[in-house]
Amino acid sequence: MKAAFIERYGGPEVLQYGDLPDPVAAPGEVVVDVHAASVNGADWKVRVGQYKQTKFPFALGRDFSGVVSAVGASVDDLKAGDAVFGVLEAGQEGAYAEKVAVKAAIVANKPDALPHVDAAALALTGLTAMSAIEDTLKLKPGETILIQGGAGGVAGFAIQLAKHLGARVITTTSAANRDYVRGLGADEIIDYNATDFTEVVTGCDAVFDTVGGDVAARSFAVLRPGGRAAFIASGAQAPKADRDDVTSLRPPVGRARRPLERIAQLYQSGAVRPPAVKLYRLSEAADAHRLSVSRHFRGKLVFQVR
Ligand SMILES: NC(=O)c1ccc[n+]([C@@H]2O[C@H](COP(=O)([O-])OP(=O)(O)OC[C@H]3O[C@@H](n4cnc5c(N)ncnc54)[C@H](OP(=O)(O)O)[C@@H]3O)[C@@H](O)[C@H]2O)c1
Repeated sequence: MKAAFIERYGGPEVLQYGDLPDPVAAPGEVVVDVHAASVNGADWKVRVGQYKQTKFPFALGRDFSGVVSAVGASVDDLKAGDAVFGVLEAGQEGAYAEKVAVKAAIVANKPDALPHVDAAALALTGLTAMSAIEDTLKLKPGETILIQGGAGGVAGFAIQLAKHLGARVITTTSAANRDYVRGLGADEIIDYNATDFTEVVTGCDAVFDTVGGDVAARSFAVLRPGGRAAFIASGAQAPKADRDDVTSLRPPVGRARRPLERIAQLYQSGAVRPPAVKLYRLSEAADAHRLSVSRHFRGKLVFQVR
């Protein structure tokens, strides 16, 4: 099969396009013929060696959408020809490829109306946003949340989900993406290049930070006493709050069929629509990574594989 893979850690130039062996479905697994796979911030962190793998070469990539082409022993709930989407097991890479083997229990049926490109774009972003907004922050109707980095993939899902739950949403973005985040439902938009969010936002019930660094560290300032903040761009641990009357949380982002089915339901009900997508071929993986590392684009970067 064709894949975008690396044989050593390094910059975007280490990404190669070429042949890797076809995967085989082990017991409990399916092989999926990948139609689309998305780029996540984690992918370039894997590429530079922040998450060590043991065996080169390997294809990068975590979420995918495609069609089941082989079924391993003891899989009785999926069959060849089923359209599915999902996210590889934590620590497993490999979705930038024409085929991927994955545990059947962590993929879900893709709604017919949802294109593969959009399903791949919604998979890991959806799992992450739902974990943060619903399971970790436990956002309630009528609450106000500041979502940092509104034009990104995870934040775009989070804005829509928070609105669906009945919350008021403030978000930060560059001026170029103001209309985009307004279209996702944001009530108040702060151009982070023009305005310091700590000077105009106060008394929030919750913060969801997808930017990290200094933005994460300063986010505690906008919380009311008793408020909570969730962080996904500050490493494996939540940053320590600089005040003792708020809670700092790191959402766990698991892999399972049920939350993928919830993504499908949110899409089918119209509560969440797919992000803006920029399409690439697998042979253009280095270009996609250069843009991903820049962290200034809108929505998701997605490989159209078939
Ligand atoms: N399982 C997990 O824990 C998990 C899962 C997924 C993602 N993540 C992490 O979550 C983070 C977000 O990922 P992502 O894919 O949604 O987005 P991303 O690709 O990391 O970020 C892109 C977005 O960030 C915005 N942005 C950049 N600097 C900003 C700033 N100072 N203030 C506000 N917005 C800013 C950009 O908007 P502008 O162009 O308007 O600047 C752009 O739309 C990454 O660090 C990623 O590794 C973690």
